[in-house]
Amino acid sequence: MFVNFRHMRKCKLVKLMTSCLLLSVVMICWEQLDLIVVSHVRSYSFRYLVNSFTYINRSLTIPREQARSFSNFPYLLDHPDKCAGKDVLLLVFVKSFPENTERRNAIRSTWGNETYIQNTLGVAVKVVFALGAIGTEKGEPFWSKKSNGSFQEQLVQEDQTYSDLIQKNFLDSFHNLTLKLILQFHWMHSRCAHARFFMTADDDVFVHMPNLVSYLLEASRKGVANFWIGRVHVGAPPIRSRGSKYYVSYETYQWSSYPDYTAGAGYVISSDVADKIYHATLTLNASIHIDDVFMGICANAVGVSPQRHVYFSGEGKAPYHPCIYSQMMTSHGHVEDIHELWRAATHPEVRRRTSGLLGKLYCAAVRAALLCKPNFVDTYPCRAAFL
Ligand SMILES: *[C@@H]1O[C@H](CO)[C@@H](O)[C@H](O)[C@H]1NC(C)=O
Ligand SMILES: *[C@@H]1O[C@H](CO)[C@@H](O)[C@H](O)[C@H]1NC(C)=O
Ligand SMILES: *[C@@H]1O[C@H](CO)[C@@H](O)[C@H](O)[C@H]1NC(C)=O
Ligand SMILES: *[C@@H]1O[C@H](CO)[C@@H](O)[C@H](O)[C@H]1NC(C)=O
Ligand SMILES: *[C@@H]1O[C@H](CO)[C@@H](O)[C@H](O)[C@H]1NC(C)=O
Repeated sequence: MFVNFRHMRKCKLVKLMTSCLLLSVVMICWEQLDLIVVSHVRSYSFRYLVNSFTYINRSLTIPREQARSFSNFPYLLDHPDKCAGKDVLLLVFVKSFPENTERRNAIRSTWGNETYIQNTLGVAVKVVFALGAIGTEKGEPFWSKKSNGSFQEQLVQEDQTYSDLIQKNFLDSFHNLTLKLILQFHWMHSRCAHARFFMTADDDVFVHMPNLVSYLLEASRKGVANFWIGRVHVGAPPIRSRGSKYYVSYETYQWSSYPDYTAGAGYVISSDVADKIYHATLTLNASIHIDDVFMGICANAVGVSPQRHVYFSGEGKAPYHPCIYSQMMTSHGHVEDIHELWRAATHPEVRRRTSGLLGKLYCAAVRAALLCKPNFVDTYPCRAAFL
């Protein structure tokens, strides 16, 4: 009896000490845990409510006349007939800053070359660039008082050569990207509504156009609707620290999680979704400056949700390898290497080396080695290796 009692006490003591040890470990790590994990866990559980209920829609709906202030900037450069009379498979809008002429030229001569796409893939893809106006030092658009006419003249010349700039008169800045998103949906609605798909991409994104076109043709054959693919951010929490460029105040967005949305680096939607989003922009408050989040809010309001495609990258650059090239859709952060990557990724040799049973087995192994490393940057997930 006595012995038994002592045994019990010892047992309890061990339990107590283990608990204390665990607790102190948790407390030491708590600060980091609190910042990263807790805000994600909290927002992730909140996400269910956000995605299924309508209060975001209700709290951000404003009168049409007021919503018009986000879209009624006049066009400075426009091409109303860009899509006219053609069966357009895909309209691509590249978000570009006026000064990024080099990047636009790189895209025109690689993945965004409409002639090349028509000749080798046999489909019409239209690639246009969305621009705002260059600012003066005071941060006003160029047309106001201290105009910077010389730079706009350069843009006009560039546009005379390529006929692919769509520019509206709002100041082109990171904090005006949502205005640029609205520009894209309004332009598509009035100038290219018959395109079967719509894509928006950053000007440092590489798009594997042959892979994307064959994927979209396949989807189109099956008759798609409510189609929205990309790298999905699930239940992301708004950033509330003022220093961040993604800072969003409670006044602008009061909930603890955004609706699901796709990374703005590049995503694709079908034309029915583009039409619904266009209508959502007519009644929503677009003060939130993060354009891909605003896209998520619009989609939430019209009942559309995104699907992850594993070969759309988020922030990260895809590894350079033929076994990746045979599957990739987009990869982010390519400027200097874009010509080289385009040559390598569309080389006929890629198909030969990666097909057949041996090629497929070899590539699964290579991709697993490339993608399944821990702490790998945000590109394609490990499971993409085995598709
Ligand atoms: C686009 O491709 C066509 C045909 O392949 C080629 O002739 C043309 O030079 C290319 N355009 C640019 C801007 O590189
Ligand atoms: C106007 O544009 C030119 C050409 O890019 C640039 O060099 C100059 O700094 C700009 N001036 C102002 C006042 O923004
Ligand atoms: C957005 O554009 C408008 C219209 O040109 C301008 O008044 C405003 O300052 C810009 N906002 C930011 C944050 O750049
Ligand atoms: C839109 O939201 C902002 C806060 O982000 C607010 O200041 C503004 O009054 C709202 N606009 C309307 C028309 O309600
Ligand atoms: C969002 O709000 C608008 C206008 O109040 C309404 O017509 C629409 O049905 C709402 N959407 C959802 C999904 O509830």
